Amino acid sequence: MIKKIAVLSGDGIGPEVTRQAIKILDAVAGKYGHKFEYREGLVGAIAIDQTGNPLPYETLDLCKNTDAILFGAIGTPKYDNDPNAIIRPEQGLLKLRKEMGLFANIRPLTTYKSLLGKSNLKEEVITGVDFIIYRELTGGIYFGEKKLSDDGNYAEDICGYSSEEIDRIIKLAFEFASKRDRKKLTLIDKANVLETSRLWRKRVRIMAEKFPEVAVSFLFVDNAAMQMILNPKQFDVIVTENMFGDIISDQASVISGSIGLLASASIGYKYSMFEPIHGSYPEASGMNIANPIASILSAAMMLEHFGLFIEAKVVREAVEVCIDKGILTPDLNKTNEFSTTSVGNFIAETILNPEENFFNKENINLGNSTII
Ligand code: IPM
Ligand code: MG
Repeated sequence: MIKKIAVLSGDGIGPEVTRQAIKILDAVAGKYGHKFEYREGLVGAIAIDQTGNPLPYETLDLCKNTDAILFGAIGTPKYDNDPNAIIRPEQGLLKLRKEMGLFANIRPLTTYKSLLGKSNLKEEVITGVDFIIYRELTGGIYFGEKKLSDDGNYAEDICGYSSEEIDRIIKLAFEFASKRDRKKLTLIDKANVLETSRLWRKRVRIMAEKFPEVAVSFLFVDNAAMQMILNPKQFDVIVTENMFGDIISDQASVISGSIGLLASASIGYKYSMFEPIHGSYPEASGMNIANPIASILSAAMMLEHFGLFIEAKVVREAVEVCIDKGILTPDLNKTNEFSTTSVGNFIAETILNPEENFFNKENINLGNSTII
């Protein structure tokens, strides 16, 4: 299979983690005889610095002429700490999502046995947790009209949703839920206060009639935030609007032990993008300490999207071997830490030589053959 992939590494640790994801894609390509061609594009703060635009026209054009996008991360403190900045890196990502029609952001939450002790939550609470969040990505308060009064003392962000915007994502969530063992779907909303949430509930009830095998429940977002910490096992498929999805997916990452493990796929009718859920982690930028697993697992989701299910499975299994062996960056291993590059090297080597299981730390760090 030949595929063209747009690589938008972005800011902070984006380039470092994306490089490891490419290493993994290359290992897969080598092993299974595929060809992945990468085309780089500017986005975010780096794009503002070089072109004045967080999403230059060339980047958008590139994304529309490739088979998928591999996205890194976006944002720098320079803009985070300047509320007056008119051009902001995040606008690049938001515009990209909107222009490419990427309305469904799919964020799976998996737990790994050997990491259960690393989470801030108790082991018995998180053992066996396995759910997936379907976050609406191109509507709601993120994209409603924004206003700031001339005197700067009043601001407004409108949250709006149409039935059509709601239906297209809840349909995907229902379809997915109907294929899962537990077949449970939870809508997270704030229907006791928000009109938009009441519309979401209405549309979910209507859609539910087409999926009688799916058990539907509704949770207010405040309660859902508590339930996710108290009893995360109750969740199977979660569907929610843009901002609630942003917030609860960061919260969900605590269950897995590190936000550096959570991958996502952003899907539309025509295009698709694969991005870790974490941000640009500027404090770690250039230090080779960021966890590349979220980016690598995002690449696995890309492989699945291409229909390469065996390849995706092989990547996931290699990630599991890596985690089980404790070959982890400092977010998950403070006593015997490995670098971003080492983790990438190990996973790549495991894909290429799965039968070998003896590794040598020196070699991994040097980027030589990691398994000897
Ligand atoms: C995410 C991020 C983005 C979002 C930011 C960087 C704009 O937090 O993908 O979750 O809020 O969607
Ligand atoms: Mg977020």
